Amino acid sequence: MTLVIDDIGLLVTCDPTRGEGPLGLVRDAALVTDGERVVAIEKAGAAADARVSAEGRCVMPGFVDSHTHLVFAGDRSDEFASRMAGTPYSAGGIMTTVAATRAASTEDLGELAVARRYAALVSGTTHVEVKSGYGLDVEHEQRLCQLAAGLTDDVTFLGAHTIPTEYAGRGDAYVDLVCGEMLAACAPFARWIDVFCEVGAFDVDQSRAVLRAGRAAGLELRVHANQLGFGPGVQVAVEEGAASADHCTYLTDGDLDALAGSKTVATFLPASDFSTRQQYVDARRVIDAGVTVAIASNCNPGSSYTSAMAFCIALAVRDMHMTVEEAVRAATLGGAKALRRVDVGWLGPGSRADALILDAPTYVHLASRPGMKLAHEVISAGEPIVR
Ligand code: NIG
Repeated sequence: MTLVIDDIGLLVTCDPTRGEGPLGLVRDAALVTDGERVVAIEKAGAAADARVSAEGRCVMPGFVDSHTHLVFAGDRSDEFASRMAGTPYSAGGIMTTVAATRAASTEDLGELAVARRYAALVSGTTHVEVKSGYGLDVEHEQRLCQLAAGLTDDVTFLGAHTIPTEYAGRGDAYVDLVCGEMLAACAPFARWIDVFCEVGAFDVDQSRAVLRAGRAAGLELRVHANQLGFGPGVQVAVEEGAASADHCTYLTDGDLDALAGSKTVATFLPASDFSTRQQYVDARRVIDAGVTVAIASNCNPGSSYTSAMAFCIALAVRDMHMTVEEAVRAATLGGAKALRRVDVGWLGPGSRADALILDAPTYVHLASRPGMKLAHEVISAGEPIVR
């Protein structure tokens, strides 16, 4: 069936070869699909079997959220309140969620995760990566990976999220478990492996061991890096050939050089810096050094309970000094690059028909109207999402 999104006032393609400026803008357009894929960009008024009229609004690629932890149970709002009263963020809170997640039934966990995915979808996120990381034993990590696989084909095994209490003081033994039995149980459901390389989590040797075991099991690599302070995470990510180093809140000039000369994307997670009262990344410095960047939500129960990519864009523009165009591109095409995907994050012949019709004439409203409901309609693989 030919679905056409017609009467588009301003189309953001994220392909500069197709239109004006870095976002490849096309005016008065129609987006023609064959169902799941875009087949053409035409002038408004194209023939179609089925038509969605954008009524002059701005249409852009759906957000590609390349870093989420959507499968968990429990509530840590008390931690947020105490942070706002001065307690610093600590990765130790992860174990609070692990306890609640292990205790939850698979049915309840599945329902929670589906509801979170739906909330993200109706706000415009048409593709997500989803991590495990709140099970931290073989049975529960496998359960989380399996549930995540019901939400996306970009599942990340994050058994190396933190060292669980039962392995306190025996980090290397836990790493052996992650690299052995746990990886074997989770790899069939995952595309990626991730490690939290940070003081208080996994050191360089442990991080490399996890990444190399994952690679040997056929997984691709991502790293939680440089979130809470300067450290080796970014260098490890680049040296091991990770697709993305996520957080990148504290970067030395050496980190920037390493990223700039690599295929590793720096993924910014501004909502975590907001929610943990960390400093924001100086994105200008990173972009001006020639690094490819992405923006993701990091939706999780502790450091960033939001899946609202528009909010992340607003933070990136206001507090990280990205231009609106850079932020929109980082939240769409940047996310796709961080996931090494060529089918999402842009709109044009061959792309997935994942589009966000904004309740606005321009994408600038994403940054200039923070907190407003800007998703008028979302199309996922050619299907209008009914709300
Ligand atoms: O990316 N840093 C590690 N993981 C998550 C936080 C998890 C939590 O606090 O529950 C993050 O911020």
